[in-house]
Amino acid sequence: MKETPTAAINLPWIRAQFPSLMQTVNGNPSVFLDGPGGTQVPQSVIDAMSGYLKTNNANTHGAYATSRRTDEMIASARAAMADFLNCDSDEIVLGQNMTTLTYAISRSIGRDLRPGDEIVLTYLDHDANISPWRALEEGGVSVRFVEINRENCTLDMTDLARKLTKRTKLVAVGYASNAVGTINDVREITRLAHQMGALTYIDAVHYAPHAAIDVRALDCDFLVCSTYKFFGPHMGVLYGKREHLKRLAPYKVRANTDEIPNCWEWGTLNHECIAGIAACVEYFADLGRRVLESYGDGRLGRPSSEARPVTRRAAIEAAYEAIHEHERALLERMIAGLLEIPRLKIYGITDPARFHERCATLAVRIDGHTPLELATKLGERGFFTWDGNYYALNLTEHLDVEKSGGFLRIGLVHYNTVDEVDRLLAALREIVGV
Ligand SMILES: Cc1ncc(COP(=O)(O)O)c(C=O)c1O
Repeated sequence: MKETPTAAINLPWIRAQFPSLMQTVNGNPSVFLDGPGGTQVPQSVIDAMSGYLKTNNANTHGAYATSRRTDEMIASARAAMADFLNCDSDEIVLGQNMTTLTYAISRSIGRDLRPGDEIVLTYLDHDANISPWRALEEGGVSVRFVEINRENCTLDMTDLARKLTKRTKLVAVGYASNAVGTINDVREITRLAHQMGALTYIDAVHYAPHAAIDVRALDCDFLVCSTYKFFGPHMGVLYGKREHLKRLAPYKVRANTDEIPNCWEWGTLNHECIAGIAACVEYFADLGRRVLESYGDGRLGRPSSEARPVTRRAAIEAAYEAIHEHERALLERMIAGLLEIPRLKIYGITDPARFHERCATLAVRIDGHTPLELATKLGERGFFTWDGNYYALNLTEHLDVEKSGGFLRIGLVHYNTVDEVDRLLAALREIVGV
């Protein structure tokens, strides 16, 4: 009989992959609740990065062994990311980070825009999906902002539909909010945008550690993520539909070919990080195969000899199924515990019936305590949380919390435990004296 995915997640195995989780602060175990700012990396990623520097370190396209191995390594990392996002390898552009990639695309898209053309943005988004588009206002492009429902920090979909017109050329929207955790219905947003002939640019940076991404199913035109937010090295990855990557004119040096994706990747890339990206995708696949194995229903190709071996994509999806179940349990416990703390306010969805519309990222404020004070006191006790706006500046300004320190952000990912949730809640209670 199939076990539940919760039973299938092997937390001791997962935590053993991440050496940094073993650190202590002032004699207390470190509790990494800073995933939304950047996650920890498994040993396999560390090994791949140092292994590359030890044995393959070279520039690309040289007529010698290490250079050829570098070319092969980059091709295999690209193929891994294509499996991760469910697209083809030539639709994957590797870059410094999400922000830089977004400026590259916005500048190129801006070449084709005219005064009076419109771009739709939201009050929920990280500034990296705002400022690169607002830069196009210089050329006469108009920007329209989609409202949020203030009571639960969800996107106002009625307002979004209202803001779309025949002049809309692009909708830039986050898949999930890095501040309050709201997950947006980007498939529906893409459908609405396409009806108006507009493109969609999806910021999946915050969504990627929590759920599988399928760009084909979303039908989005662009989607961007950062590998350091999902257990990989500090880099960004962009998916672009082949037709757009070919049609748009990049700003590039002459030595870059006109072939995609090379025409979008300028200068020498960070090869050791790219080696880490391939290992990071393999980490998900490894986790997923273990999850499938634990179901014991032959989905891995055993015991039935007729079953085909599981693909890397299927293994990644299985990993995320288990991750989702585990994070959901942590989220329920965390929200129930937070709501019991007097004078604490959670910004975002708190109704369990709508938990499928949020991830396990919590923005809170407690009357009488600044977010910085709370984060500092938690930090002294070994809890790594964040305070401020985390560049979701539109949101903190819109909710009028920017001037008073923003939010305290508690971010859960799959290596966190129930025990860590309970200890965080106890530490918070102790700090605020309840
Ligand atoms: C939702 C979201 N979008 C974009 C970014 C920017 O990513 P990068 O640091 O790769 O430019 C971040 C980083 O915090 C983020 O959380």
